[in-house]
Amino acid sequence: MAGRKTVYVKTFGCQMNVYDSERMAEALAPHGYDSTDALEAADVIILNTCHIREKAVDKVYSDLGRLRQLKDERRLAGRETTIAVAGCVAQAEGAEIIARAPVVDVVVGPQSYHRLPDLLLKAQSEGRRLIDTSFPEDDKFEHLPARRADEPEPAQKRGQGIVTRAASAFLTVQEGCDKFCTFCVVPYTRGVEVSRPAAAVIAEARTLVERGVAEIALLGQNVNAYHGIGPDGTTWTLARLLRALADIEGIERLRYTTSHPRDMGDDLIEAHRDMPKLMPYLHLPVQSGSDRILAAMNRKHTVADYRRLVERIRAARPDLALSTDLIVGFPGETEQDFQATLDLVAETGFALAYSFKYSARPGTPAAKSDEHLDEAVKTERLLRLQDRLDGQSRAFNDGCIGRTFPVLFERAGRKGGELVGRSPYLQPVHAAGPHDLVGRILPVEISAAGNNSLSGVIRA
Ligand code: 5AD
Ligand code: SF4
Repeated sequence: MAGRKTVYVKTFGCQMNVYDSERMAEALAPHGYDSTDALEAADVIILNTCHIREKAVDKVYSDLGRLRQLKDERRLAGRETTIAVAGCVAQAEGAEIIARAPVVDVVVGPQSYHRLPDLLLKAQSEGRRLIDTSFPEDDKFEHLPARRADEPEPAQKRGQGIVTRAASAFLTVQEGCDKFCTFCVVPYTRGVEVSRPAAAVIAEARTLVERGVAEIALLGQNVNAYHGIGPDGTTWTLARLLRALADIEGIERLRYTTSHPRDMGDDLIEAHRDMPKLMPYLHLPVQSGSDRILAAMNRKHTVADYRRLVERIRAARPDLALSTDLIVGFPGETEQDFQATLDLVAETGFALAYSFKYSARPGTPAAKSDEHLDEAVKTERLLRLQDRLDGQSRAFNDGCIGRTFPVLFERAGRKGGELVGRSPYLQPVHAAGPHDLVGRILPVEISAAGNNSLSGVIRA
């Protein structure tokens, strides 16, 4: 359409940032912006950033270095580019970004991105550089345009040139965190824990179903602490919300992430027992297998608590698989503490685990410790841990051979005539089939396993 401009959004970090990026793009659409995946030609470039570890932040600044050149080149060709930094680095570093990166026009935090259209307009028309990192009293979700049923997801699910509508979508139900683990920036970047009203979540889920979405993953930094106001005026738990969502026709699969072990309520464990639509896969970060380190992390649970919890969840849903997050090299971690983590990993048997070297984050209590470990020690422990974890993931995948899983097909594969979908355990599954099966759930008999994916034959 004549007069329309383009916006390119690059997402770093967690799934909530993926969700926020979609909402930002949607918020800009009524203001004349179409999403593009051609960075070089975009009128507006948004980096939606992550502050969780130093590496994530470094990536943002190196991208900004490259964007400076692009902006100059476009200007020489007579075209202006507006550059915005959104997300958690924006929140944490605000004015510092403006000072350090002259290329940046707008800095907007995760709680104020509903103001992005306005900020961009002002930056463009007045040539000012603007920062909005407030935690506004008004809820951003109430100010964002409602999600539209006819709007396809941003063009990120492409296969063989055919743009498919997303079969699976994220939906933020809870944001922020009051737990204050001593290593973590989230309470500072995302703010206090807030739950969206259940009715708003249900309405958004219905719209996603109208778009053709069959699976919804509910998001929250502490998603199982969800306590939103229900349509009946009472406070709903996550389990209650999941049950209401399962009643929506068209929703075939539900997931939620990320959970804190302290907030796994009895009703949520029962939901895993009772709800066929709730996938038997749970991300339950443990961080460490040492009680001493867990206490220093202010995790508010012990190894024994975690072990008992896992037993109860598995008793409720025997085919449930777990994934987790682990940090190695937390300040003061001894070889013995690290061994305890290896032991917990061996004992629990995670289908998948994300493991990280501890990264000191400005403003967090652990960063002030005087017991920081050498980088070399952290690296060596990470490699040892990852070796174990890789073996476990592979064993889990190998154990799937011969089983038949319902697979939700999401897109065409790289090879002709091939589709890629997801198992209940989120493993990518490759199978031969026609493109019109995208968006559908079909039984697939698994015949081969790799480190990160499965393949099989559709048995319809
Ligand atoms: N250093 C390393 N890893 C971290 N995580 C969070 N903060 C840090 C940090 N400072 C990890 C945790 C968390 C995951 C999202 O990132 O394991 O669960
Ligand atoms: Fe990164 Fe945490 Fe922000 Fe997600 S919420 S983008 S993980 S800092």
